[in-house]
Amino acid sequence: MIECIKPMAMLLICGRNKTEAKTYNWFIRDCIQGIQQNDAEIELRVWPDVGNHDDIQFAMVWRHPPGELQRYPNLKCIASLGAGVDHILSDPHLPLHVPIVRVVDKHMAVDITQYVVAMTLSYIKRLTHWQQCQQQNRWCKQPPFNFAQRQIGIMGLGFLGKKAANALHDLGLHVTGWSRTKKVSDKIQCFSGTQEFELFLSQSDVLICMLPLTSQTENILNKDTFTHLPFGAYLINLARGHHLVEADLLAALESGQLSGACLDVFRQEPLPKKHPFWTHPKIQVTPHIASVTNPLTIAPQLVENYHRALKGFELLNQVDITRGY
Ligand code: OXD
Repeated sequence: MIECIKPMAMLLICGRNKTEAKTYNWFIRDCIQGIQQNDAEIELRVWPDVGNHDDIQFAMVWRHPPGELQRYPNLKCIASLGAGVDHILSDPHLPLHVPIVRVVDKHMAVDITQYVVAMTLSYIKRLTHWQQCQQQNRWCKQPPFNFAQRQIGIMGLGFLGKKAANALHDLGLHVTGWSRTKKVSDKIQCFSGTQEFELFLSQSDVLICMLPLTSQTENILNKDTFTHLPFGAYLINLARGHHLVEADLLAALESGQLSGACLDVFRQEPLPKKHPFWTHPKIQVTPHIASVTNPLTIAPQLVENYHRALKGFELLNQVDITRGY
């Protein structure tokens, strides 16, 4: 009797549509290279050239077209190509029985920590102020020379948040953290839950948002939150644009409740050309580069999860869909 071997394939989808997919060409190229380097036997298909949908058992996605993932009847795992999974969970037609995994990458943690340290130190050491003085040929040696005594509050103490908090602490800064559930750290003071949120905010001269985007954290950077911060606090958001109520930020900058903000993520990306954040004198904009997934460093965990999914084994970094991360 001839044994019939069912074809198995991995699928890569980047972009909400074919036009957006083209903007990810470099990323797709590196993903293919990373998968091949780790397992040359894997058959990898790149959306929209999917072939027979029945063959697809594992899908790697970054901003897939909504509804697309329910078209693969044999799908065993959906892998986010980033640390966040909100881009997957926002799909109203997600096949909810298929497990989702996300990236946990120490290289990404280094990258994001460097961004947090750079932006925090830029504020603490008043780099913009000294640059402005230089532009006016002014030797303005007047205190305060820096804001080194200001307290840093990190929202989100997951794998990435904890690394960033520890790095800032190791630089001699006073750091606290806040998370949904209680975390313990020998370096930083940890607050948790809604009952400790205001106390945490009241001590945060610099508020850094590194939370996952869930229904509980959406719009959490709002007027009420800003009101509980010390007057003149500084905001850094590198999590998701939907954490921030943009009008509330503009009002808080206007009133002086916030002295400035550094934003890497936006409700609409790319940030529209006419958006007021681009030219606001108190806002620094970076184009979602706090940390960019490196397909070559995450390929080993993707390949490992592919094999685990085929064998029905426990997956690495599986997301709890009810929690949203
Ligand atoms: C991510 C991101 O989720 O880059 O990894 O935003």
